[in-house]
Amino acid sequence: MKRRIVVTSALPYANGDIHLGHLVEYIQTDFWARFQKLRGHECVYVCADDTHGTPIMIRARKEGITPEELIARSHATHLKDFTDFQIAFDNYYSTNSPENKELSESIYRAALEAGVITKKTTAQLYCEHCKMFLPDRFVKGVCPKCGADNQYGDSCDKCGSTYGAEELGSPKCTTCGGTPVVKDSEHLYFELEPNHDYLEKWIPDHTTSDVSNKLLEWFKEPLRGWCISRDAPYFGFKIPGYDDKFFYVWVDAPIGYIASLKNWCDRNGKDWREYWGSELYHFIGKDIIRFHCLFWPGMLHTAGISGPDKVFVHGFLTVNGEKMSKSKGTFVNARTYLDNLPADALRYYYAAKLGGTVDDIDLNLADFVQRVNSDLVGKITNIASRGGQMLQKKLEGRLGTLDDEGRALVGKCQDAADTIARFYEERKFNQVVVEICKLADAANEYFDRLEPWKTVKTDLETTRTTLTAALNAFRLIAIYLKPILPVYADKAMKLFGESEWTWESLRQTLEGVTLGTYEYLASRIDMKQVDAMIAAATVKPAESGEVAHESRASKNKEKPVAPLKTEIQFGDFEKLDLRIGRVKECEIVPKSSKLLKFTLDCGSLGERTIFSGIRQAYPDPAGLVGKEVAFVANLAPRKMSVGVSEGMILFAGEPGACGGVLMPTSEAGGGTPVT
Ligand code: MSP
Ligand code: ZN
Repeated sequence: MKRRIVVTSALPYANGDIHLGHLVEYIQTDFWARFQKLRGHECVYVCADDTHGTPIMIRARKEGITPEELIARSHATHLKDFTDFQIAFDNYYSTNSPENKELSESIYRAALEAGVITKKTTAQLYCEHCKMFLPDRFVKGVCPKCGADNQYGDSCDKCGSTYGAEELGSPKCTTCGGTPVVKDSEHLYFELEPNHDYLEKWIPDHTTSDVSNKLLEWFKEPLRGWCISRDAPYFGFKIPGYDDKFFYVWVDAPIGYIASLKNWCDRNGKDWREYWGSELYHFIGKDIIRFHCLFWPGMLHTAGISGPDKVFVHGFLTVNGEKMSKSKGTFVNARTYLDNLPADALRYYYAAKLGGTVDDIDLNLADFVQRVNSDLVGKITNIASRGGQMLQKKLEGRLGTLDDEGRALVGKCQDAADTIARFYEERKFNQVVVEICKLADAANEYFDRLEPWKTVKTDLETTRTTLTAALNAFRLIAIYLKPILPVYADKAMKLFGESEWTWESLRQTLEGVTLGTYEYLASRIDMKQVDAMIAAATVKPAESGEVAHESRASKNKEKPVAPLKTEIQFGDFEKLDLRIGRVKECEIVPKSSKLLKFTLDCGSLGERTIFSGIRQAYPDPAGLVGKEVAFVANLAPRKMSVGVSEGMILFAGEPGACGGVLMPTSEAGGGTPVT
């Protein structure tokens, strides 16, 4: 039976770039949508930019452009990033659209009529300078529970407690640094309690138990109303009947799913209600469960619109086992990745890791390189490249017929179809990859056992029979891979001279067919490419001498300032004799993860050897050769296990973050005092 399926990914905010974390979601939704299409179902994958809210307004202000200009620019870059990652939306729209405005207003009116909209006056922080009420993330201050400084207005990342922004001690506006005042404002609330019973039943039926159990904890008490209004200035839709109140971005964001679908339907002569009312699935990350499994079904139910069949929740991406970090270079934008590595590699690796649960997934960079090379290139692609090239060179590129053994191999590949389909359907992409690798192992084992590279010298027709089986096995594997690696699969399809692959194509075998020319399908990746990507993604604290000032200046910015060591007196500082030396050699000290060995030409002081524990900042120390650096020349020589160190190279930066060696910009000679 042909199914009609609508699939969505959460709408990315228009004020930021797409990064590898986001891609965990868009790539897996794409796998699933492509799989449904390959199976012959009608599947519409819609998404959009989430364009409203304070951050977008502020960002546009800072850049001196209108929010509309900002979101137009983001829309183009986001779509380009997604397209280059082979993510194929049927519609990629915007929440700032006429369809969305109209739908948001009508859903709000339905809620009004249902009597679930209430009004309450609340005290909120207001910045007189910025002329706006401050959302939680736009105010920082002292945590009311543990006293930690520099905490946001909603929760403390030192002690984990949550509170209201007005409870913060010494609050500061993060935009202008000014002290906000407390001001009353009337707000609109969407009451959830009238839907208490409905939601309590809805939730467990529409998510997995690990997700619903947590949500259901709230149902022991009456559900609290949800504040859906924001005061001007705000970039968003005005609430009907008000001049200076807007819908909170999270009201019109999910409605944006419908708006995107409606826009697609209108352009294709279809009725959106028929599509929205068919099978509907939302893919989301675990941070936005509340919005999709509580407020959203509540809103839809009140408005008499059907909701999703299932909300599929995934975990967060970690890199090398840690949260993505800008200073470590692991907060990698989609574009930075693409500048250094092929999209296929990440798609393959994510598939190998995603099991359809809310567990976080880890991008271990060494494992990533190794897996792509050994499995995708070494195991899977190898069958096609060895077999295809030999067939072309020695056997006019023509397949022969399958013998019993060949048929057994091909049959094994065909028999995996139901299992693989089930894993795809259940979003256990990691199991799909396991099954595919098993088949590739079988094909390689067959190839190695029949040794066509030997038989090709003596018996061409036997060789043709061998290659016919190996290449048919590869063909089936490539069909299975199509949702994960669509571009790769298309190239493989052309090799076999076919024009369309569907799940039905798995039933065919190819015999007596002349293949197209073998095009490269995937090539090995190198740790150097990964290193270059990380280097490009690393946000460095300011260069050399500016570091000390920079850490002060950044006090008002987002990053918490690292605590300083005990204060010293001028007399302490005066004892240092600072000189300049030219780096003659700089090498990694074997068996040490930190040390670099410098040989400095110190002019009148002669040559000195200095060991410095700054390797993390200079993974490629050869780049320092020829540079001038500042060093402490009167430090007593220090005996270390690797040799004697005759001084100390000056290095500045915040502890734990990347810093840099101090390099005088003047062309002063070696040995010259710095001051
Ligand atoms: N705009 C909202 C969603 C509105 S949907 C009606 C939003 N945007 S987001 O850009 O912050 O995130 C978009 C999606 O990417 C979310 O599902 C989010 O969970 C996911 N991810 C963002 N960072 C992520 C990781 N580091 N790892 C995995 N997924 C993450 O939320
Ligand atoms: Zn301000």
